[in-house]
Amino acid sequence: MNLSVQLAPRNKRGLLLSNPVMAASGTFGYGTEYAEIIDIQRLGAIISKGITLRPRQGNSQPRLVETAAGLLNSIGLENIGVEALIREKAPLWAEWQVPVIVNIAGESIEEYAELAGMLEGVEGISGIEVNISCPNVAAGGMEFGVNPKMALAVTSAVRRRTSMPTIVKLTPNVTDIVEIAGAVVDAGADCLTIANTFKGMTIDTVKRRPVLGNISGGLSGPAIKPLALYLVYKVAQAVEVPIIGCGGIASANDVLEFIMAGASAVQVGTATFADPQTMLGILEGIENFIAKEGISNLDELIGTANIATETLRHRDFK
Ligand SMILES: Cc1cc2nc3c(=O)[nH]c(=O)nc-3n(C[C@H](O)[C@H](O)[C@H](O)COP(=O)(O)O)c2cc1C
Repeated sequence: MNLSVQLAPRNKRGLLLSNPVMAASGTFGYGTEYAEIIDIQRLGAIISKGITLRPRQGNSQPRLVETAAGLLNSIGLENIGVEALIREKAPLWAEWQVPVIVNIAGESIEEYAELAGMLEGVEGISGIEVNISCPNVAAGGMEFGVNPKMALAVTSAVRRRTSMPTIVKLTPNVTDIVEIAGAVVDAGADCLTIANTFKGMTIDTVKRRPVLGNISGGLSGPAIKPLALYLVYKVAQAVEVPIIGCGGIASANDVLEFIMAGASAVQVGTATFADPQTMLGILEGIENFIAKEGISNLDELIGTANIATETLRHRDFK
């Protein structure tokens, strides 16, 4: 049974995963936090918490609140900073079998480029995920992901500074995600993650105030799965690079839906909070499905649900 997947076929180094189930950024720390709870080496890859040039404390509390079938977060990129990551985390990752990909976030195009340059060739880091989709920071983040020109500029600047496999993580908070996807692929992205959280809020009716310290946050969890799935379905028909589906995935069946919509791999976030074993259970479920269906390679399933190719193409809306 072959579950392996190549996420950067255009990149000289490539990004070969033993299976398509990855831990989503910000929901798995630096991987070390889970190493004693689950067998992290069986994962396809781990995406680190979003990292910035300098350490950040994140937003004011409360920063997490449950909603119907979802989770709202406004962490605001709390992280240890890129220097500590290179000094303290990368040497540990270099000993691991599971590839670690570093999620990067900047307040300016130059900051993204600088981060990419600093991470280039660091042992223990298999690739970068460019986060132009964080909804919880005042400067940078999603600001770059809602505008095709900005998205292209960030991706090009990063591309010039790194030869590492480069994934760009898109925001769903746009009118036309296909346009943004096209721009970042033109700028040299090896792969896309679709998508980050949806912007939302919740109000405490006793206090008559927003619950989150930051007022708004990003919605994740089962509530967003059909939304993210549709975005993957649309983008998969418009671009040639591999897509990582992300949003509300909690079961093997959810993963199969994303793969049939056109994703080559997936990321699991919020479901891990409810049960840290979720990703390993998902992996087992995929193996069972493949055995039952007599499929030899997961590739055979990618995009098999895409029946409306022409009607969804970006140019048809023009
Ligand atoms: C607490 C929390 C922190 C997150 N931090 C990041 C982050 O640092 N960088 C990033 O790109 N995405 C971040 N995300 C978004 C997730 O990686 C993922 O895209 C999103 O949660 C949707 O997937 P899910 O429904 O499986 O959780 C975060 C999500 C949560 C819930």
